[in-house]
Amino acid sequence: MAAEHKYFLTLNNINPNIKKMEYPLCGLFEARIAELEREIKNGVKKPFTEIIKPDTGDCHAIGQSPITFIRQVMSIVLYPPLLDDPKFPDDAKQRARVILNACRGGSIGSYTDATGIEIIRKHAAEFIEKRDGIPCNWEDVTLCGGAADGIKKILKLFIKETNGKRAGVMIPIPQYYFYSVTLDEFGLHKIRYYLDESQKWSVNIEEMQRSIDKAKEICIPKVLVIINPGNPTGQVLTRKNIEEIIQFAYKENLYILADEVHQNNIYSENSKFYSFKKVMTEMGKPYADMELSSFMSCSKGYSGECGFRAGFSETLNMCPEVKAVFHKASSPMLCSATGQACLEPLVCPPESGEPSYELFIKEKKDILDSLKSQAKLLVDTLNKFEGISCNEVQGAMYAFPQIKFSLRAIEAAKEQNQSPDKFYATEVLENTGIYIAPGEGFGQVPRTYHFCVTTLLPVNKMKIMLKNLEVFHKEFMDRYR
Ligand SMILES: Cc1ncc(COP(=O)(O)O)c(C=O)c1O
Repeated sequence: MAAEHKYFLTLNNINPNIKKMEYPLCGLFEARIAELEREIKNGVKKPFTEIIKPDTGDCHAIGQSPITFIRQVMSIVLYPPLLDDPKFPDDAKQRARVILNACRGGSIGSYTDATGIEIIRKHAAEFIEKRDGIPCNWEDVTLCGGAADGIKKILKLFIKETNGKRAGVMIPIPQYYFYSVTLDEFGLHKIRYYLDESQKWSVNIEEMQRSIDKAKEICIPKVLVIINPGNPTGQVLTRKNIEEIIQFAYKENLYILADEVHQNNIYSENSKFYSFKKVMTEMGKPYADMELSSFMSCSKGYSGECGFRAGFSETLNMCPEVKAVFHKASSPMLCSATGQACLEPLVCPPESGEPSYELFIKEKKDILDSLKSQAKLLVDTLNKFEGISCNEVQGAMYAFPQIKFSLRAIEAAKEQNQSPDKFYATEVLENTGIYIAPGEGFGQVPRTYHFCVTTLLPVNKMKIMLKNLEVFHKEFMDRYR
């Protein structure tokens, strides 16, 4: 008889940090959604004909159109004979030539240095300089395989115990789940600070102080993560709030990690994007000397090119020896040029007078205008639902409405061994085919319940989604009255 197969790698001997990684949105819903999709395909009768997943920021997957200029540049770099094709405009060809000339062997199929293609770093620095009106040294800019990749590289630098205490990283709650998962993976302590829902999800300094003081008992706080504009909360921080945050970070000796990937998605008339770099620099010394890494991505904004996995970071005031070690540590990891190529048309868009300018401006405006009206439609409609309140989506691409459940609904959830928001999301999915992500996956103040829904759904689809949700919601509220 053959010996029983024994696995070498088991749950008992894998990296405990990987085992511990919490991704509460994964699992239950992903598996159930896949099952429902299979059932629909196989003709099983359901109260709906398709699954709508307005829970992610995967722009093109949900309906956002690609920008023609970006795709033209990408097509040419992938297939250079298109340089001779008269259907392609000269400015797209010029950007493609810049990229190809900078690639090893003149091919997009080659590796690049870990810091990224130099000319694109220089152009990204010019983009930052224009955005902030403050000089930017291109050597402070590095390209990464998506902002997530760049953020992980910086966070890795902080993995070190001091006197038996782990390093701590302050993260906003609710938060983009990437942070809690990454901190678990790296064995870094999560210091959660709650955003202030009653003040449009702004950052409350007293709350930050509370959370850091408590955390100091068990970890050494080292990093402050700020997501602005916010995911999943859709706020755009005011300049005054940013100044207060910088003062707090200075007082507590924290490295600032500013996640600014949604900087092009600003909808509210009263909101304006201020980069942490700009505010910090304009505050003057000692703040202007603080250590900061900020991140931008081609995944969001009007480009929405999530699949190319490209972003860039600017790191300021890092100790030169640390910078050298950081670059040394990254350099064995040669990078893909393809994603980086997608950054070139983003940081070097068509200029007035170039052949693609008008179409580019129109497409960009159409996308941003649609996102703005979708955000308004979503929030205005949800606020009419019984028991639901939703802050204005000032920016980014998500709303995070709060829902007040009756005691009977909370009891019903308990019987199913679920939190009320997960129970509600499950019921919504099973009855309407709409997947709204329950708030527990993002974190929320205890005994408050939320869900996350993206503003990306095109208006027609969003109207249908909201109509179906409204019908279900009324029935749910009546059922548990
Ligand atoms: C706040 C925030 N940071 C980072 C990312 C990841 O960006 P990338 O696709 O460039 O890795 C996302 C993606 O949704 C995000 O919302």
